[in-house]
Amino acid sequence: MLSLVLFSVFSVVSGAAIERRDPVPPGYVASPYYPSPHGGWVSDWSESYRKASLLVSNMTLAEKTNLTAGSGIFMGRCVGNTGSALRVGIPQLCLQDGPLGLRNSDHNTAFPAGITIGATWDKDLMRRRGVAIGEEFRGKGVNIHLGPSVGPLGRKPRGGRNWEGFGADPVLQAYGGALSIEGIQSVGVVATIKHLVANEQEMYRMYSLVQPGISSNLDDRTLHELYLWPFAEGVRSGVGAVMIAYNAVNGSACAQNSYLINGILKDELGFQGFVMSDWLAQISGVASSLAGLDLSMPGDINQVPLFGNSYWMYEYSRAILNGSVPVDRLDDSVTRILAAYFQMGQDQNYPRPNFDTNTQNAEGPLYPGALISPQGVVNEFVDVQGNHAEVAREVARDAITLLKNNNNVLPLPRNSSLKVFGTDAEKNPDGINSCTDQGCNKGTLGMGWGSGSARYPYMDSPIDGFKARGARYQFFNTDSFPSNSNPSPSDTAVVFVSADSGENYITVENNPGDRTSANLNLWHNGDRLIRDVAAQYANVVVVVHTVGPVLMEEWHDLPSVKAIVFAHLPGQEAGASLMEVLYGDVSPSGHLPYTVAKTEDDYGQSVKLVGFQLGQPQDTFTEGLYIDYRYFHKNSITPRYAFGHGLSYTSFSLSSATITAGIPLTITPPTRPAKGETPAYSTAIPPPSEAYWPENFNRIWRYLYSWLEKSDADAAARAANSTTKYPYPAGYSNVQKPGPASGGAQGGNPALFDVAYDISVTITNTGSRSGKAVAQLYVQFPSSSFDTPILQLRDFDKTSTLAPGASETVSLRVTRKDLSVWDVVSQNWIIPNLGGDYGIWIGDSSDNLHLRCGTVAGSCAYNQTSPV
Ligand SMILES: *[C@@H]1O[C@H](CO)[C@@H](O)[C@H](O)[C@H]1NC(C)=O
Ligand SMILES: *[C@@H]1O[C@H](CO)[C@@H](O)[C@H](O)[C@H]1NC(C)=O
Ligand SMILES: *[C@@H]1O[C@H](CO)[C@@H](O)[C@H](O)[C@H]1NC(C)=O
Ligand SMILES: *[C@@H]1O[C@H](CO)[C@@H](O)[C@H](O)[C@H]1NC(C)=O
Ligand SMILES: *[C@@H]1O[C@H](CO)[C@@H](O)[C@H](O)[C@H]1NC(C)=O
Ligand SMILES: *[C@@H]1O[C@H](CO)[C@@H](O)[C@H](O)[C@H]1NC(C)=O
Ligand SMILES: *[C@@H]1O[C@H](CO)[C@@H](O)[C@H](O)[C@H]1NC(C)=O
Repeated sequence: MLSLVLFSVFSVVSGAAIERRDPVPPGYVASPYYPSPHGGWVSDWSESYRKASLLVSNMTLAEKTNLTAGSGIFMGRCVGNTGSALRVGIPQLCLQDGPLGLRNSDHNTAFPAGITIGATWDKDLMRRRGVAIGEEFRGKGVNIHLGPSVGPLGRKPRGGRNWEGFGADPVLQAYGGALSIEGIQSVGVVATIKHLVANEQEMYRMYSLVQPGISSNLDDRTLHELYLWPFAEGVRSGVGAVMIAYNAVNGSACAQNSYLINGILKDELGFQGFVMSDWLAQISGVASSLAGLDLSMPGDINQVPLFGNSYWMYEYSRAILNGSVPVDRLDDSVTRILAAYFQMGQDQNYPRPNFDTNTQNAEGPLYPGALISPQGVVNEFVDVQGNHAEVAREVARDAITLLKNNNNVLPLPRNSSLKVFGTDAEKNPDGINSCTDQGCNKGTLGMGWGSGSARYPYMDSPIDGFKARGARYQFFNTDSFPSNSNPSPSDTAVVFVSADSGENYITVENNPGDRTSANLNLWHNGDRLIRDVAAQYANVVVVVHTVGPVLMEEWHDLPSVKAIVFAHLPGQEAGASLMEVLYGDVSPSGHLPYTVAKTEDDYGQSVKLVGFQLGQPQDTFTEGLYIDYRYFHKNSITPRYAFGHGLSYTSFSLSSATITAGIPLTITPPTRPAKGETPAYSTAIPPPSEAYWPENFNRIWRYLYSWLEKSDADAAARAANSTTKYPYPAGYSNVQKPGPASGGAQGGNPALFDVAYDISVTITNTGSRSGKAVAQLYVQFPSSSFDTPILQLRDFDKTSTLAPGASETVSLRVTRKDLSVWDVVSQNWIIPNLGGDYGIWIGDSSDNLHLRCGTVAGSCAYNQTSPV
């Protein structure tokens, strides 16, 4: 605990004041967008806003500012704890990591990571995993779940946190995010979609005393068509919270980027919930409020946390009393937070936190950050696992991606004689939770490291799996080829290798989150181990646990490397899930959620990690729309394995494909609906007495409170009458706007989601084993004055298990938005060539598309030449 405390202090306190920031490259601007749009105008949220506004209109200033910030880092049981407003019945709200399950807890499930569920391409499973995660957070008394992560999108194959999300494509990422949100919120937990936006590398992400955070410089079309897309879908699914990224966009920190929060998120996307900072990402008080931030987390100032200082809380009370922040801005934030609380039904029998993220002990300090703190029961060890191991195992199994299978070496015959190599096959000998936040790569890699990790209740390792099967195997728990393995021609060798990454506050084997020194190589000399095994054994199966793409050119083509399996990050369920696939109980049905290249250069130069720069590091997205497979296609680069690739033990055919036109397209969408009513409150500055400290209040040292000394509150109120005014940013206004043409509902103009074409196709199992098939739908735009990627994923579906000869018809669709481009001039989604022939391609991989449905002919043709 203490080491963590010191770590977070010293990691941000080192050296001089923030340097003047380096100029953002010409052309990239962070425009002002004010005021922050009031929430409540979407009918789905009306009732929750009505309930929230009844409370807000009765709350005092100090109660309101208590709810918009955390009580301080390490000042409660959860990773974030807001203040309370008990007089009106609102408890402290508990915020807790992370996207794959409860962080730093017990009796929880360590679910497969986001990238793993992405690799299943199974929408139903995405939702069910979300429900199970939601049930665990609710069971532990968490109000606000800090997931799912859809940013990073995976622009940089070496980026540290790509594995928390669902894959390097906006649509795959969007389904992963939106369906997780639906599942999590269906049990009453507020989901948090994060990190808005363009948070594509770990290194240099944070603002500190010595350096501003990295600036992601990207144009408006790229933002809309790639990085914002999954956020739009998350908002459309009714997400209650959005977390702002650490980095800047176009030179302006996301936590106070008014164009991003006020303009894009709250007005264009019609977001009705609340916007929180990432932990210590807030770097100003008044400016961040005006820019649309609603909740400061964990409440402390960013540079020197833990000393009882905040940009908000008491300082926010002051900013309201002295007239700098208009009262309606604070009222809107509080209303948004409480509306999300009511929207999820948290006013009805919602559990209080019964665990403590700061310790595994039953008793401990109630406020560890206070150093001298009252002690008490902090962990009640509530078992929230239910039957969630089953859904976790199903995800781990259905994600397993078979990349290569020469001579059908897989599935393994039951009586195979196996030689198993690699430390990744067995649990970390030091203990499965021996590294804080999984900050090491030792033993079976079930997840990356950082705040997105969870403690394992157990680890069902591959070796456990072989044991449970009664397999004939000998295990060599080493990453160097042993001299005593006695190769025999009847042996099959199974080699376990891994590649890890994580969050920047922990460095593992010289990788500060991103794969800075590992590059895209396997860890622990995995290439060497595979080559050595392949030199001695005729049949080698390689199993890879990985956060993302790895290079495999050193061994991929060796004749004895017969099979390659990506098991991604399976969480606690690594063993049985893998056995079911290796031994053929089920056919593998996972598909790659990213492209695996032959060399890192093939991904493009502009997506490499940004190294040290004086001043603000600048990361300019010069590749625009061309990341991952879009880049490979544009530059005619053949990858090692294409985005979407994944083999089965059986085979499938497509037939009876139809395309049916839905709502006729027009160049621009129909006019958006106008905003509905939002709550109205008095805009008068409250009396300073609403912020006075209560008498005889027993203050906890360093805890963040929303009260002011009487003299301070009175002085602030006097300042409101002075002629000195807050230096408002250029473009500041406090007159609510009708909103942009591209908005109109959650996610944007509702007409964007009108179905333009329904596509139906029958999938038949033509092989001799049972299996599940994935249908992937890519759109090829007709030529127009807009440059568009050759192919873009727009929908997908997975069949149930099909017995040999069995069929299933899947329904896919493309919406108006799917066929549009973002026009930066008109600031709207437009059809770039009305009447042009869109190619709707369906297949099982981005490089295996032979069924084309044309929008002009209104029919589908088989045996077409794949466009790439
Ligand atoms: C960044 O700058 C580009 C180029 O001027 C602009 O199109 C885009 O809207 C800006 N994005 C944000 C979030 O400010
Ligand atoms: C809240 O309501 C109570 C009871 O109606 C009233 O006494 C109190 O003054 C109200 N407080 C505020 C801040 O409006
Ligand atoms: C703010 O929250 C803290 C923690 O729950 C509580 O002690 C304090 O009374 C609250 N302040 C107000 C004004 O309600
Ligand atoms: C009001 O208070 C805020 C928060 O401390 C401060 O930033 C601002 O400068 C003050 N404004 C005036 C006019 O005193
Ligand atoms: C497994 O059994 C089959 C059929 O009985 C036999 O042909 C094969 O050699 C056996 N394999 C091993 C490794 O014992
Ligand atoms: C501010 O000015 C108004 C109007 O002149 C007056 O009613 C109010 O009492 C003044 N407030 C303070 C704190 O001086
Ligand atoms: C596609 O080509 C294959 C092989 O040439 C052939 O067997 C099949 O009938 C063709 N399918 C259609 C629908 O034309």
